[in-house]
Amino acid sequence: GMISRKTNTLGLILPDIRNVFFPELARAIEDVAQKQGYSVIVCNSDNDREKEESYFQLLQEKYVDGIILAGEVTDNQVQTLKDRGIAFLVIDTIVDFMPVLSVHTDHINGAFLAVTHLIEQGYRRIAHIRGPAASSTAENRLEGYKQALSKAGIAYDSSLVQMGDYQIESGHDAMNKLLVMSNPPDAVFVANDLMALGAMDIISDRGLKIPDDIGIIGFDGLQLGSVVKPKLSTVAQPIYEIGTIAAEMLIESIRNPEKEKNSVILQPKLVIRDSSTRGK
Ligand code: RIB
Repeated sequence: GMISRKTNTLGLILPDIRNVFFPELARAIEDVAQKQGYSVIVCNSDNDREKEESYFQLLQEKYVDGIILAGEVTDNQVQTLKDRGIAFLVIDTIVDFMPVLSVHTDHINGAFLAVTHLIEQGYRRIAHIRGPAASSTAENRLEGYKQALSKAGIAYDSSLVQMGDYQIESGHDAMNKLLVMSNPPDAVFVANDLMALGAMDIISDRGLKIPDDIGIIGFDGLQLGSVVKPKLSTVAQPIYEIGTIAAEMLIESIRNPEKEKNSVILQPKLVIRDSSTRGK
């Protein structure tokens, strides 16, 4: 049979190393890898497809035994990896055209929990700052937002949905747009914590009080959200668990390539702090 060259090295491609979510994830992956005798090469793609492709090539030249891709991955990329015969696992992307190794949080349910919480706190005009257009995490979080509104009998209003790109600055911009509306929202569910922190900054610049004038809740569960005032409520993803499970699954599959490729879906947890608790 074919002689395969093992290097005991994994590649990890992150979409945005400035988002603390990803270094936390990388830490978990590295912990498992190290215990199992693997080292990890970390690449930051900055969500740039060309950079991503050059990292794929680089990782192949280094003969990594497997690759973990975090963030949005296209069907094309998945197909290419499959064709090249590299063991790989995706985090966050849901691939349905072939069985692949994947780990992700239940983004729909997480968003549903966040928005239901805001409704229970008496907020009624709830806006959403969503993630980017071609992102399944963004689409799923939007879906959970819609489901929570619908369950509470609140009509969905697309003018209350602003698009961001998961970075702080886009949280600024989106919140600015929401606050200049003639009928502004009384709460906002933001699709990740970084954008929520950007939005909080604008809210206080405008002299509005959180959570009395406007409630806010993020998504991810970054520690950063617990050191701002008021402390940011959030939907915590089990980041460390996502990373450890991903690394374990990939290493298992490298050692046992015939094993069936499966998906693991983890449940998020609502973390209620001060930015969303106005009471009724
Ligand atoms: O890729 C950006 C976002 O997706 C992160 O903030 C985290 O929510 C991840 O799931």
